[in-house]
Amino acid sequence: MKDWIRFPKSSGECSRQAHADFPAGAPYEREVSRDGFFGPATHIHHRHAPTGWSHWQGNCRPRAYDLSRWPQHQNSLWQVQPILHNADCQLQFWTLSSSMQQLLRNADGDQLLFVHKGDGQLFCDYGELAFSEGDYLLIPRGTLWRIACKDEISLFAIEATDQRFSLPDKGIVGQHAIFDSNAIITAEINQYFLAQQDEESWDVEVKHNQQLSTIRYPFNPLDAIGWHGDVCALKINWRDIRPLMSHRYHLPPSAHSTFVADNFVVCTFVPRPFESDPGALKVPFYHSNEDYDEIIFYHHGEFFSRDHIYPGMLSFHPRGFTHGPHPKAYKNSFSQQHQQTNEVAVMIDTRKSMIATTEDEGLPNNIEWTGYVDSWKSHEE
Ligand SMILES: [Fe+2]
Repeated sequence: MKDWIRFPKSSGECSRQAHADFPAGAPYEREVSRDGFFGPATHIHHRHAPTGWSHWQGNCRPRAYDLSRWPQHQNSLWQVQPILHNADCQLQFWTLSSSMQQLLRNADGDQLLFVHKGDGQLFCDYGELAFSEGDYLLIPRGTLWRIACKDEISLFAIEATDQRFSLPDKGIVGQHAIFDSNAIITAEINQYFLAQQDEESWDVEVKHNQQLSTIRYPFNPLDAIGWHGDVCALKINWRDIRPLMSHRYHLPPSAHSTFVADNFVVCTFVPRPFESDPGALKVPFYHSNEDYDEIIFYHHGEFFSRDHIYPGMLSFHPRGFTHGPHPKAYKNSFSQQHQQTNEVAVMIDTRKSMIATTEDEGLPNNIEWTGYVDSWKSHEE
């Protein structure tokens, strides 16, 4: 994207720095941001909350989904209806009740699976990788894989369509910040992997251009005895993430980037202390992220900036409206009663607009919380 014309100016009453020491009579700072908080930006000081709308009509609206009510338990991820999708990524919520009886291969792109509930084993071309709640499993494009589990597991699936995941540029904080790449655990050829090799018939479901083909082998094709190289399935747990923070400045969500793809980014919000400076903002600032759609999957804890949002829910904020903290959270942020957040959430920001699957297209009934657009009301109370 071409850079915007740069000409920093100020007009009227404004603070000297972003997210701190707001002018009297205008408690609501809104950041108008280009390029997902990396690019040009202006901070506008409002008298009223930018989320204080009284009526909303039309398809471009904030949405929330309660995925814990998702009724479909599929043995193959390829059978699960995406919740949101575009040309660069698709998002699914997958509950698996028992071990998979077939192998999958995603020819469309890298597959990221965030483990919301349960534990199990990933068996793939590169060996065995045991996983548990809070792990990100990154499966390279083209990998043969299946999951074995004793009890039900839930996974939030993110596909990087026709592209790959990499790690964010860590800039001036250096390569060991956020998480040390030495904390990454890779699949291994081990006793569990060798023990699952058999001469039975196995089907491979290949997803290519979002369509399925099935390849049958008269033996288990996960039959490797070794490998070397730098393409491999891997995992990292949110507990290995050591978040960037400042006691005097509320960092933008981009500081919490975990994986980046060409046209979207995956961020992880993990527990961290609130800003302690009396003049510093302690909740996400009101913002118009003009070039990105924002999706958050809520995994664990209490979500300090959102009312009526619980683990297992997903919110979708398309570009085109200003969003920010809910009324109670904004009010509490000035009370100093909370020392830290205990939330764990996965955020996806997409450069291209996401398309929400409708109930006519297969979204299960009663998953969407249609009252979400009204959940910012009573801000002035
Ligand atoms: Fe946002």
